[in-house]
Amino acid sequence: MTKPPHPPAEPPPSAIDSGVMHGRMLQVSRLATIGEMAAGVAHELNQPLTAIANYAQACDRLLGRPGPDLDEIRTAVREIAGQAVRAGDILRRLRSLAQSQPMRRARSDLNATIEAIRDLILADGRVHRARVQFDLGAELPPVSIDAVQIQHVVLNLVRNGLEAAAEAGAPPRELLVRTGLAADGDVEIAVLDNGPGLSPQALERMFDPFFSTKPEGTGLGLAISHTVVRAHGGSLTYRPNVPGGARFSIRLPAETR
Ligand SMILES: Nc1ncnc2c1ncn2[C@@H]1O[C@H](COP(=O)(O)OP(=O)(O)O)[C@@H](O)[C@H]1O
Ligand SMILES: [Mg+2]
Repeated sequence: MTKPPHPPAEPPPSAIDSGVMHGRMLQVSRLATIGEMAAGVAHELNQPLTAIANYAQACDRLLGRPGPDLDEIRTAVREIAGQAVRAGDILRRLRSLAQSQPMRRARSDLNATIEAIRDLILADGRVHRARVQFDLGAELPPVSIDAVQIQHVVLNLVRNGLEAAAEAGAPPRELLVRTGLAADGDVEIAVLDNGPGLSPQALERMFDPFFSTKPEGTGLGLAISHTVVRAHGGSLTYRPNVPGGARFSIRLPAETR
């Protein structure tokens, strides 16, 4: 009994139906541009569409046989329906990204922006049984930001850091949120953890939408964060922490007046 051809690599189901994504992540996605996301979404759509084409061809072949096996055909048709639903889910999410609000930027103090989410960060730290520390630099120049968006970016980096520190296992799990002035005058927020750091593969793909090494990961956190920071005229970069772990840095241009 021939099986319908198996579709190529399936997208992780978590990329589509994770509750996380429908919660905080969708709030984060008040993006200025979705152009950067489009390539990843197109790639993701390609998988269910390829599967649909494969199953439809299988149906055609099975129907061409004398005394076709209806059970096999039914299986293939159900797969087609399931994959179409999956493609629809992906499109629905893309639409919700496209409907996101415009940025509302205001002259802000970055330390105050971080202070406002200090309790949230500390609570997340407790959940992950990590020691969280803040080191907020003095006399930072103001920045022009959508504070809510930047807060979500920081929360994303914090969550990633806590998950990485928890994954590394060996206590004490540590996370540091630091602000300061970079040499070029940019204002910087850095999030440092003592997890395993990024693998070479993750380093290459960390900003790709849907790239995740976690079973329940959406792979959207860094992709959206990157887009948000770039829309602010800033940069989001990674470098290994010393002696181990990850160090993500958000740099934002200082307001000059
Ligand atoms: N602090 C970190 N330490 C180690 N790896 C990280 C860290 N932050 C991100 N990563 C890697 O980058 C991937 C993508 O992160 P992200 O876009 O936030 O998606 P998710 O957290 O849903 O996996 C993670 O799955 C992980 O492999
Ligand atoms: Mg994440």
